[in-house]
Amino acid sequence: MAGAELIGREELAEIQELFSREKVNLYRYGGGNYKAREFEEKFAAWIGVKYAHAVSSGTAAIHCALAGAGIGPGDEVITTAWTFIAPVEAISALGAVPVPVELDETYHLDPNEVEKAITPSTKAVVAIPMWASPKMDELSKICKKHNLILIEDAAQALGASYKGQKLGTFGSVASFSFDAGKTLHTGEGGIIVTDDKDIYDRAAEFSDHGHMHQPGLPRGKDPRRSKGLNLRISEVTAAIGLAQLSKIDTILSKAKENKRKIKDAIRHLDNIILRPFSDEAGSQGDTLIFRVKNREAALQFEAHLTEHGFGTKILPEALDWHYAGVWGHLLGEYDRYSTADLEALWPRTGMMLRSSICLNIPVLIEDAAIDNLVKAIISGAAKIG
Ligand SMILES: Cc1ncc(COP(=O)(O)O)c(C=O)c1O
Repeated sequence: MAGAELIGREELAEIQELFSREKVNLYRYGGGNYKAREFEEKFAAWIGVKYAHAVSSGTAAIHCALAGAGIGPGDEVITTAWTFIAPVEAISALGAVPVPVELDETYHLDPNEVEKAITPSTKAVVAIPMWASPKMDELSKICKKHNLILIEDAAQALGASYKGQKLGTFGSVASFSFDAGKTLHTGEGGIIVTDDKDIYDRAAEFSDHGHMHQPGLPRGKDPRRSKGLNLRISEVTAAIGLAQLSKIDTILSKAKENKRKIKDAIRHLDNIILRPFSDEAGSQGDTLIFRVKNREAALQFEAHLTEHGFGTKILPEALDWHYAGVWGHLLGEYDRYSTADLEALWPRTGMMLRSSICLNIPVLIEDAAIDNLVKAIISGAAKIG
């Protein structure tokens, strides 16, 4: 569980330091929000962008990123059919139309499918890296060609890169999450990053009821030019974020090392297909995905791992949760989906998810536990034949 595994004294020290101030301001506005500001500055520097704006969750972050980029009613936004539903909820909450498309072999947006889905109403593409990179060169080229805004919801991929460039720096704006399963953990929390001052300003305004935070004005007189919500981060959350950020390089490198050991020990198995990458060197360590021959084999594999004390992460259970084919409660609002057999719209994605296993690779795992996991994978592979 990445950052969550390393929560400790450093986080507590940051909170204590916050509370040692004469005037503790736990809100995001009104001055005194120095922990949030420091966290944003350090995060922006680590990613390598001009601006970062921290908010209350990863869901809030993609919501603000989309709002900041000007996504609004009627705009079609292309994204992937395999993701946690948050970005799709955010697109929908802004009155825009989510257009999920099929995965490619790397479990990311298929550039050909993106191009096929473009209509005159398409305004943006939201790439969702799942612990590794989508084909960012191709997606960037398509967005440029069709004058679309490229947005990255990199909630799951803080620290991953593509051809040496960090994810979160390819599009006009990107978002990250700090929930319990992510690279950094702050309880709840998220952040947007961008080099575009206008997107940054508008996203920040959206996160605070539209307030423009003009200096020297009392809050009641602070103007607004568009609507917003309260999606602010608290100082306590930002304080935890600062301590977590100081651990990021350790988190990333340890998980990568652990994953390499596991992959090297199972590479020879000929009935599991390790997922291919657009750039394996830039992928994260905390997640390992492989495919087996079919759904039954995946379920059998999952049960076998459970028996041996290892859980799975999102796959194969994605079919109940992280897959456009089961989002009828949300997609049903749109004419184009309301009467459709959703499962039939993304058959390749459904087939891939049905037959895949996804494993969490801890940061803190002893070699003996790695050996046990490897043994469980090898015996699971033998069982499914
Ligand atoms: C791609 C993506 N976006 C957004 C989120 C939402 O993040 P949070 O749980 O912090 O709201 C998640 C959470 O898993 C996610 O995977």
